[in-house]
Amino acid sequence: MKDLADKAVLITGAARGTGAAIARRFAEAGSHVFLGDIRHDEAEAVARDIGERAQFIPIDVTDEDAWTRFVSAAVERAGRVDVLVNNAAVLHLGTIANTSADTMRRVFEVNTLGPFLGIRAVTSAMKAQGGGSIVNVGSVDGLIGMNGVSAYCTSKWGLRGLTKSAGTELGRDGIRVNQVCPAGGNVEMYGPWMKQLVGFLDETKVYTENRGLPGEASLEAIADAVLFLASDASRNTTASDLPVDGGAHAGTFIPGFNTL
Ligand SMILES: NC(=O)c1ccc[n+]([C@@H]2O[C@H](COP(=O)([O-])OP(=O)(O)OC[C@H]3O[C@@H](n4cnc5c(N)ncnc54)[C@H](O)[C@@H]3O)[C@@H](O)[C@H]2O)c1
Repeated sequence: MKDLADKAVLITGAARGTGAAIARRFAEAGSHVFLGDIRHDEAEAVARDIGERAQFIPIDVTDEDAWTRFVSAAVERAGRVDVLVNNAAVLHLGTIANTSADTMRRVFEVNTLGPFLGIRAVTSAMKAQGGGSIVNVGSVDGLIGMNGVSAYCTSKWGLRGLTKSAGTELGRDGIRVNQVCPAGGNVEMYGPWMKQLVGFLDETKVYTENRGLPGEASLEAIADAVLFLASDASRNTTASDLPVDGGAHAGTFIPGFNTL
């Protein structure tokens, strides 16, 4: 996407997984990428690997002062902020009975408050330069509900509400706000629950296979959708969700029914 060349792009949660894939794709498009994360060594390694177009800047997205430092560092280096990708998030798997108030607060703070602070932090620079594009990384879990995922689902539905209201509020400043909603991502995100999930492999397979396009989205497919929403190719699109979920949110494929 030609219009992304030389753009200054801030990406949170870029130390690994989806965020790292997004950073690589923007760099391939010629953008300057600023990688933010709490995993300093991993993020620094990704930035080094991308090369001179990339820089790591430490940030905990729940910390408003850290956002100020993140945006200032990008402005100092690139002179502007064209794109913000709010990608950092944490997962929690557990029934409501097994999810404490503290856990619920933490999931909300990273997944919903973090992007809110990010939007607050970039808007004045974007307004001053005549506009920009903000892409939030949501989830199919922000389009549907699921048992055992209440804290995460709630945080991603909140992010969706933020996307819709921020897109509506900031359009007249030339700032578009959209989100991708993937089914799929980095399996490392499931790390703490892997031992339990091994007991549900058949059930998980049914969920991931019984959709319009079977299987999970690749990191690259998610990154491509983010680049589309960041670029002028989506210039009349704001406050929208782009599912990258093989149709999982739309309905369930029932195998035998194709023979009816
Ligand atoms: N993994 C999946 O199956 C899946 C599915 C749908 C959506 N998503 C979404 O994709 C996005 C990327 O996740 P991923 O799959 O690459 O998982 P991941 O765990 O590899 O990436 C999340 C990144 O966010 C960082 N992070 C966590 N808390 C942070 C904080 N307070 N401040 C800054 N950085 C922080 C982590 O260090 C990590 O690098 C997330 O928004 C996630 O909700 C993931």
